[in-house]
Amino acid sequence: MIATRLHPDKQTAAQAIAREIADLIEIRSKSGKSTVLGLATGSTPLELYAELIRLHREAGVSFRSVITFNLDEYEGLGPTHPQSYRFFMEENLFRHLDIPAANIHIPDGLANDPAKNCADYEAAIRDAGGIDLQILGIGRTGHIGFNEPPSAADSRTRRVHLDEVTRRDNSVFFGDLDQVPHGALTMGVATILEARRIELIAFGEAKAEIVRRAMKEAPSPSCPATWLQQHPGCTFHLDTAAAKAL
Ligand code: PGA
Repeated sequence: MIATRLHPDKQTAAQAIAREIADLIEIRSKSGKSTVLGLATGSTPLELYAELIRLHREAGVSFRSVITFNLDEYEGLGPTHPQSYRFFMEENLFRHLDIPAANIHIPDGLANDPAKNCADYEAAIRDAGGIDLQILGIGRTGHIGFNEPPSAADSRTRRVHLDEVTRRDNSVFFGDLDQVPHGALTMGVATILEARRIELIAFGEAKAEIVRRAMKEAPSPSCPATWLQQHPGCTFHLDTAAAKAL
């Protein structure tokens, strides 16, 4: 069962989720526990990251006890490539916070042995105690992370081919479709479903149809976001435009 929460604008959604994250960090750090966050890229989480930075600067929220795992990375792009997700995360979040560098994890788009990098990634999530809270966007193909159709419920962190719809959607960031990689490393659907809480953010009319499918269609590999229906603690944060087909 997916819960929905309607927000008037992106800032309000960002404030609500950032507050939840800050509260979780505070509660867990009081008993000496780290907080494991699953993080996303793309345009969707930008307001959330700006709000986390504001809480750090203005409200003194510390992220020293936080461990992060990003969902995915483009194959072939290294940390200095401006479109790599490592670069995106440094620019938009990490360099503004006090998360210890050793606590930050992103699949390695330049790994010589991608299968080993993916297996090590799964092990690192397990060793950290699992993901407490996962931030998600949703692609128009129904992907979560880069789990494009078809993606099974038991899929794990692995190398994938990007859907042409996704490559076209993401070409706005690259300026040119030819520059968009064809492959990526992504957490699997099962990896995502093991997070204890999932907060998915979708705004704007372009997401309305895929939000409807994710919530209303029977779970299947052809729309990987439908697997979220099987999670006990998943909320879709929407505006009225993204909720309009529900
Ligand atoms: P977007 O992408 O945030 O750029 O809309 C979301 C996604 O593909 O998961």
